Formats: sequence, structure tokens, C-alpha cells
Amino acid sequence: MKGVIFTELFNVVEQSQGANFLDDLIDACDLPSCGAYTSVGTYDFAEMQTLVAELSKRTHIPAAALLEHFGQHLFKRFHALYPNLFAGHDCPLRFLMEVEVVIHKEVLKLYPEAELPSFTTLDHTPNSLTLLYESRRGLAPLALGLIRGCLLHFDTLGTVNMEADPAGFNKAVFTIQLNS
Ligand code: HEM
Repeated sequence: MKGVIFTELFNVVEQSQGANFLDDLIDACDLPSCGAYTSVGTYDFAEMQTLVAELSKRTHIPAAALLEHFGQHLFKRFHALYPNLFAGHDCPLRFLMEVEVVIHKEVLKLYPEAELPSFTTLDHTPNSLTLLYESRRGLAPLALGLIRGCLLHFDTLGTVNMEADPAGFNKAVFTIQLNS
């Protein structure tokens, strides 16, 4: 997993819980990288799983809720870090449809070793979009937060529903309905 995801997780933990909490979290996780991430580096995804599990234990917040919150924060950071990818966009549904075919393709040009999920558009109307998320990393709750962050970014009101596969978060159908 790319370092930028780890460094952004650390930023959100530090902002909400403080620097000492973050240091204790990193120590408790006993990570092979020692938690010394650079945004362009690539690290074992297992370290993200360890960090989120430990964070969940320490905050008593379920891992899925933590990932969703993080996803919402991450969307704002993607806007700050990669403004070019937002150029010309004013519709959250169009933006979300382009994650698979344009945005993550650009991400792969920047970071050829990135491990990205797949998003398949199952249905779309001017006010709604149904997306199928699939990934070996099982981060559907992170996608939920990113989608919610996308609606907020474009100042659009609407609902986002996630129907995860009974087997887990490797597969989920998202239905985004904008208020008309
Ligand atoms: C400009 C916007 C975006 C950028 C720059 C971006 C970039 C990235 C990057 C760098 C990663 C990490 C890949 C790795 O660690 O190897 C990632 C992962 C991911 N992205 Fe995006 N992304 C964007 C928008 C979105 C949106 C809107 C969604 C949701 C619909 C999304 C869903 C995900 C998910 C769920 C992952 C975690 C990996 C997985 O589930 O397999 N991304 N993205």
C-alpha cells in the first residue's frame, strides 16, 4: 500500500487524538517499517490492517467506522494533493464514474506499484449511480467514506448506501442517490 495512505492516516489520528496517542499506537503495533512512512514509498498492506485493528481497540470504535471516517478525510486530502485530477469536474457522479477509467489509471502512472480496487458502474441516471466495488484488500468502508467525501466536496446533498457482500468487505454495491 502506498505511503500516502499511511501518512494521511497518521495525520487524522494525530489531529483527533494527539501526538502522544499516535506515538503509543505506532509502538504498540510493532511494525516492520517502524511506522516510518514516506508518501511515495510502498509498504505491506498488513501494516494498515494492524494499525486499524489497534486503533479500533484503543478507541472502542469498530474498524469499519474508523475506515469510513478516514475515507472522508482522505478525499479532501486527495483534492489538496492531486488538484489536476479534479480539473473540469463539477458533478460527483461523473467524478465517481471516472475513478476506475481515468483517476486510478492516472494514479497507476504516478505509482505503477499501486494496488487499486475495481469499480464497475452497474447503473446510472442523471441523479443516481450504482457502483460495484471489488478488492482483495477488503476496504469497502474506506470507499464509503471516500464517496461521502466526494458528495461533500461537490457540495451535493444525497444518500449513499453500501450493501456489502455477506462474505465481507471485499465486494460491495454502492448506491448513490442525489437529492433532486
Ligand atoms: C483524485 C481522487 C483519488 C486519488 C488521487 C486516489 C488515489 C488512490 C491511491 C494513491 C490509493 C492507494 C493505492 C495503494 O496503496 O497501492 C487509492 C486506493 C483506494 N482508492 Fe482511490 N483515489 C481517488 C479517488 C477515489 C474515490 C473517489 C474512491 C471511491 C469511490 C476511491 C477508492 C479507493 C479505495 C477503496 C482504495 C483502497 C485500495 C483498495 O480498496 O483496494 N478512490 N486511491
